[in-house]
Amino acid sequence: MNIQSLLSTLTIEEKAGQLLQLAPFFFIKDLKVEVAGALRALDLSEADIFLAGSVLGIHDAKEMIAVQKKYLQRSRHKIPLMFMADVIHGYETIFPIPIALASSFHPDLAKKAARIAALEAQTAGIHVTFAPMVDVSRDPRWGRVMEGFGEDAYLASCFSRASVEGFQHDGIGKEGNLAACVKHFAAYGAPEAGRDYNTVDMSMHTFYNHYAPPYQAGIKAGAHLVMTAFNTFNGIPATVHQGLLRDILRGQMGFDGVVITDYDALQQVITHGVASELKDVARLAIEAGVDIEMASTAYFRYLKTLIDEGVIPLALLDEAVLRILTLKEKLGLFDNPFKGADALKATQRVRHPDHLATSERIARECTVLLKNDHQVLPLDKTRSIALIGPYVNESSTNGNWSWHGDHRLNETLHHAFARKGHDIVMAKTGNQATDYDRQDIDTLKQADVIIVCAGEQARQSGEARSRTRLDLPDGQETLIKMAKATGKPVVVLLFCGRPLVLKEILKADAVMLCWFLGSRAASAIVDLVNGTFNPSGRLPMTFPQNEGQIPIYYNHLNTGRPYRDERNEYVSKYLDVSNDPQLSFGHGLSYARFNYEDMRLDKEVMAINETLTITVTVTNDSQQAGHEVIQLYIRDLVSLPVRPVKELKGFQKVWFDPAETKSIVFELKAKDLSAFDQHGKPQIEPGTFDVFVGGGSNTTLSRRFVLKDVGIK
Ligand code: BGC
Repeated sequence: MNIQSLLSTLTIEEKAGQLLQLAPFFFIKDLKVEVAGALRALDLSEADIFLAGSVLGIHDAKEMIAVQKKYLQRSRHKIPLMFMADVIHGYETIFPIPIALASSFHPDLAKKAARIAALEAQTAGIHVTFAPMVDVSRDPRWGRVMEGFGEDAYLASCFSRASVEGFQHDGIGKEGNLAACVKHFAAYGAPEAGRDYNTVDMSMHTFYNHYAPPYQAGIKAGAHLVMTAFNTFNGIPATVHQGLLRDILRGQMGFDGVVITDYDALQQVITHGVASELKDVARLAIEAGVDIEMASTAYFRYLKTLIDEGVIPLALLDEAVLRILTLKEKLGLFDNPFKGADALKATQRVRHPDHLATSERIARECTVLLKNDHQVLPLDKTRSIALIGPYVNESSTNGNWSWHGDHRLNETLHHAFARKGHDIVMAKTGNQATDYDRQDIDTLKQADVIIVCAGEQARQSGEARSRTRLDLPDGQETLIKMAKATGKPVVVLLFCGRPLVLKEILKADAVMLCWFLGSRAASAIVDLVNGTFNPSGRLPMTFPQNEGQIPIYYNHLNTGRPYRDERNEYVSKYLDVSNDPQLSFGHGLSYARFNYEDMRLDKEVMAINETLTITVTVTNDSQQAGHEVIQLYIRDLVSLPVRPVKELKGFQKVWFDPAETKSIVFELKAKDLSAFDQHGKPQIEPGTFDVFVGGGSNTTLSRRFVLKDVGIK
């Protein structure tokens, strides 16, 4: 297909149509597709609809084929529609939510999950997924932290890359692969006060060093689309921010794919107060380099007038259409407009036993053992258990953003404990202590161990799910008090989509953070509880002591008055709580015990063109085999601008047999020691650095070296 010559045959109306994205409902009115308010209000004629370029949210092959067929019959130019949907952590086979995937510290798992999600989703005729969401966030009040990869730019970049590689696999032209859309550009994860859609205001230095890298990583991995963010960025809505989209995204980051707005975002530019009419929004957006408008009609209604009036050149529209047609061409839609859509294949492929088994394998690596006093866990199957709490008989463990996953097909914890041969003396659902009577308490006392299955509901995290209080909802903390009062060991299995305030929860003897692990959550969790597998997840976000500490993150600056000891009054501290987090980034226990010793650098002075080799000896000092996540951090001691007290620069997830010792090697190059200036240029500052290695960001095992800006004589 010669895209350029196709472009030259299109009228301005047809070109503007390519930029419009609509729900399938518009094409076939009797399809039972839910249309949200903003879409319903679009007021489009039938002729308008058959000019649109892409479709948002398709659910099955038959529907896709019907829409595409009708469109190709009715549209003059016969350019196939492109179908997009939110395939975030699985399609029908659901994988752990992204923050849980990040907890695995094993990016390859995210790649596997994305690959399977793509294979399943494509059978419904989906070509593009609105994923991965790679917005870094330092604020657990923000409900969408469940959908991202945590607070650290390096870790999130690894997962961003892996997800894009998984979705796109060996090329978006091939059947079974989806085009990835990195979102939300930019800095959507930093809304003030953690309130979704709220203002974002940060220094460019912070942006380039802590928020931009995961977008860049996804783009470098070949993502074909980028979605803009709802928020303002330095006073301008990101959706029409020319500096952000043209200069940074396309210029500095080298992105040459399709930019799509978020849902209804062009309309919202008026609400932001940047323009008073949609015509002006259309001008701002096309000048900023936005290609597709999702669920609004600014382009569709006004681009022609703007061009006719000479306000914008036709070339701006052509540029956008060219990018969209090129994407359709790369997807292979001109050769096969129905690409992927196959109802029979769908029945064979979705929720395939291999996919579910992979989901379970992945889930096993995503829980984080937060606490395990007196080695309550692992729990021998001969020890009797009592199960209490809202998640005992609950199957909704898919988490938010899992539209196509039917949680009713998931096993419950109660069922999984029984199926795997545990001795259950009681299994009773209840939110709080008052849901349990005297007789229940007597039964609890008969159990060897009480397991409290507690947490947020799946719909308490996700889009528009911000919270100011991060404790357990519905009075669930009373369950822990009640269980502790029996004198029996208490284990909490904690479901949530964000870091919570754990003070009461940590009064239990053991706490396993289960996030929302997807289709096979229960089976994976029970196997971890009984030691069939050893937990190996680590925290991708800091857990605060209370909400007042937020934002709290491990890679903070030192300040001029850091807190060192309590005798000093005028230092950076609170009067009522220490600066320490409840649990730090990178934390996570194992049934094994790992010792670190003999950390060595191969040189004390490193020239700018040299590689520094760091070696450490790690020993599994236990009889349990398992993974350890060995983390490497640096600190640049003198730098302008100032650098954080620690920065993650590497990690390795390594398997250890019982009592095994391994020599672990990391390498650092000068570019790994660099930071971005406020213009986004990497700067390498020679000087003294500390390098830390350990099992979490609070490690103190370190060595010092000097980076010289010349070759060593
Ligand atoms: C979300 C996006 C999503 C889009 C389409 C928006 O509300 O912010 O992340 O891709 O809806 O469903």
